[in-house]
Amino acid sequence: GAAELGPYRHYMQKEIFEQPKAIADTLDAVETIGPELFGAGAAARFKDIDSVLILACGTSYYSGSTAKYWLESIAKIPTSVEIASEYRYRDSVPNPRQLVVTISQSGETADTLAALKHARSLGMQHTLTICNVGTSAMVRECALNYITRAGAEIGVASTKAFTTQLVGLFLLTLTLAKVRGHLSEAQEADHLKALRHLPVAVQAVLALEPQVVAWSEAFARKENALFLGRGLHYPIALEGALKLKEISYIHAEAYPAGELKHGPLALVTAEMPVVTVAPNDALLEKLKSNLQEVRARGGELFVFADADSHIESGEGLHVIRMPEHYGALSPILHVVPLQLLAYHTACARGTDVDKPRNLAKSVTVE
Ligand code: G6P
Repeated sequence: GAAELGPYRHYMQKEIFEQPKAIADTLDAVETIGPELFGAGAAARFKDIDSVLILACGTSYYSGSTAKYWLESIAKIPTSVEIASEYRYRDSVPNPRQLVVTISQSGETADTLAALKHARSLGMQHTLTICNVGTSAMVRECALNYITRAGAEIGVASTKAFTTQLVGLFLLTLTLAKVRGHLSEAQEADHLKALRHLPVAVQAVLALEPQVVAWSEAFARKENALFLGRGLHYPIALEGALKLKEISYIHAEAYPAGELKHGPLALVTAEMPVVTVAPNDALLEKLKSNLQEVRARGGELFVFADADSHIESGEGLHVIRMPEHYGALSPILHVVPLQLLAYHTACARGTDVDKPRNLAKSVTVE
């Protein structure tokens, strides 16, 4: 009821603002990195594995897609990510040394549970879930788990479950890196320090809300939007587009910015806002030239840039500056303004934000 909402208009807004606490709670019991974070028997299983297969649906699939970049670059372990409803019905090549990781807020999604059982029926017994509900079927069915502490999520569009899944997946990445000899003590200490500072960093991003509200007015009048990201932030662009679709009913698509020239550039006109996630990473210069391609076609750009990325506002180019550059954990910060953009755009359009049409919080039937 209204009392629970406090100062917020919707559960989704409340849950977006709960992220600093959800992340802090998820990290609460973590003192050092190690297999024991994932339950009894994790050490032996992690020694036996040669690759990772992530299975999930919806927003959880995008946290898994982000984790693939971490797992390959930091833990140096081959990783594939599959949509659960695809994996369960296709012929695949089973690998009993693969760690099967399911990701689920509810732990009850029918397709993800069926994909897990399918993997097991193919002889894959090393199973782990990153899940927000400790008593769920998913946790019972998996050998290992990491329980995120996002708390109850009521808004159908997932927000705090996503960022806490990313935290769990980053801990898994660091653990596998350590087991495989790719994490020095100094690196472990640095990563733990960055993780512990995350709640404060997310809080600073939430303070950008008024700037995002200003953008949402323009967005509410559009029927289409394009989201661009590169590398680690491509799945964040996908998640931003999904959020906008789910609650504002604006058609949104995400592309890795380098693919622009292979199709979506044909859609760019003054009527197509292009939202860009622009962290100051190794791909920034490439991304800037992608932005030029959009501007040259009259497209209007809305860029979330890191403080030091030297992208300045100008004609057809709107910039919101992120408070700090956050290295490997940057996706956790960059998704937050995209959640806020979808939320405020939906509010401006007057949709039922917490219960968007045709969607369910948890899809327990196929
Ligand atoms: C539904 C929800 C999404 C969620 C997806 C997967 O589609 O509306 O917000 O991402 O299910 O749910 P899960 O509980 O498995 O993460």
